Amino acid sequence: MLDDAPTATPDEAAGATRKRGLYIKTYGCQMNVYDSARMSDVLAPLGFQPVSRPDQADMVILNTCHIREKAAEKVFSELGRLRDQRDESGRHDQIIAVGGCVAQAEGEEILRRAPYVSMVFGPQTYHTLPEMLARIERDTGQSILNTDFPAESKFDSLPEEFASQGPSAFLSVQEGCDKFCTFCVVPYTRGAEFSRPVATILEEARRMVAGGVREITLLGQNVNALHAEGPDGREWGLGRLCRALAEIDGLERLRYTTSHPRDMDDDLIAAHRDVPALMPFLHLPVQSGSDRLLQAMNRKHTSDDYRRIVDKLRTARPDLALSSDFIVGFPGETDSDFAQTLRLVNDVGYAQAYSFKYSPRPGTPAAGLGDPVPHDVADDRLQSLQQLLNAQQQSFNDRCIGATMPVLFERPGRHPGQKIGRSPFMQSVHAQCPDRLQGRVADVLITRARPNSLGGDIVTGVQAAGIRVDDADTHAPRRTSPEG
Ligand code: SAH
Ligand code: SF4
Ligand code: F3S
Repeated sequence: MLDDAPTATPDEAAGATRKRGLYIKTYGCQMNVYDSARMSDVLAPLGFQPVSRPDQADMVILNTCHIREKAAEKVFSELGRLRDQRDESGRHDQIIAVGGCVAQAEGEEILRRAPYVSMVFGPQTYHTLPEMLARIERDTGQSILNTDFPAESKFDSLPEEFASQGPSAFLSVQEGCDKFCTFCVVPYTRGAEFSRPVATILEEARRMVAGGVREITLLGQNVNALHAEGPDGREWGLGRLCRALAEIDGLERLRYTTSHPRDMDDDLIAAHRDVPALMPFLHLPVQSGSDRLLQAMNRKHTSDDYRRIVDKLRTARPDLALSSDFIVGFPGETDSDFAQTLRLVNDVGYAQAYSFKYSPRPGTPAAGLGDPVPHDVADDRLQSLQQLLNAQQQSFNDRCIGATMPVLFERPGRHPGQKIGRSPFMQSVHAQCPDRLQGRVADVLITRARPNSLGGDIVTGVQAAGIRVDDADTHAPRRTSPEG
């Protein structure tokens, strides 16, 4: 076993790196999922290999999220559990580390409440994990707090090698946020907007595709605010980047998340029309349907601006399915504000959505606002909103029955011979499927719709290269509309 070797193995005696177990638990958004994978890549040359349980690990990293209160509290409970487990198993040399957005926002508090934590580091410093590790191994007993926003970008020092990621993978292209929505901690935890240069993005994408990746999801806190330095010396937006990425041979699908309505420019909208690899599913958070609240949230657009953007997008790509985030119970939200949110949901029609009860976050402007919405009122609103969104999701899924969709098969299902993949619209699709289709796109006739997934039968086997999703457009579900 990785972690049980008491004496040097022959490899170690010959100077090879000592093998050690690494367990990373990831909370929060896709950016954290990407970061966790990169932490693993940074630590691999030091002999760290992933293990499936924290009690098997020489190092445990919690990659944390600070977006809502519950997310941060979970970290402290998990830390307590880890300490108990470490004490019970007698693994006193196990390193416990905390990275991510709680580390950035509450680093000192973590070391105060959980002094057994050896390392606390923010989202912009994890490329220095080897140095931090060497320091704590040298100065046993000393904890490290590393929450700087260094001038150099971590992307310049991340290793080129990365572990195999399956057919669908994330690629971080933009980070940070300058929008300062009044409820949100992200501008403080991730720092200012930063776009990676186009050349490095293309290079990473090519390497991913050469390693078997078929679908890339471009990530950024405001991914469509990308202003990347192009190889031509000009500034590239996300639309242009998508066009360039779609040229990579073997890359069948492109997605991006999360976008802000304000940054949905005409070139990006046109890319939805022109680039078949760009999947017809878009997460475009609106938060609220009330202009008064959108202003109090500092979203910098009205609900009608949002409706107009959706119309433009659907003109460019008629089968586009949408998803959003909503916050209910923002300070001062009235019944009439909430009714306007329900109206917007009815007008737009979502294939899927996330909704949250407002959670005041320390240091954000909204935390200082009066007029809180009572918890029971916010709970009721959340329930009605979720009922409506769930009904829309079920109706969207129901309308997929009878459609033939290209599905990218990603992993085995629970039943023998079954695999699970994704439709162009991000639905999970279950089908009986030969092993050779693992990691490939195949057409599936949809026969069953559940609230969170679809089921169907393979119809054509592996698609020939070059046949893309719009070949199935005639069968794609129509937009969800209030009329259904
Ligand atoms: N950059 C994205 C969202 C990032 S955070 C955007 O601009 O839309 C993900 C979601 O968490 C947000 O869209 C919002 O709905 C929710 N969220 C953020 N802060 C929150 C808070 N203080 N309370 C409740 N939900 C919050
Ligand atoms: Fe947060 Fe607003 Fe930035 Fe999104 S755009 S990350 S909600 S501040
Ligand atoms: Fe959470 Fe940080 Fe992402 S606060 S949502 S992990 S950017």
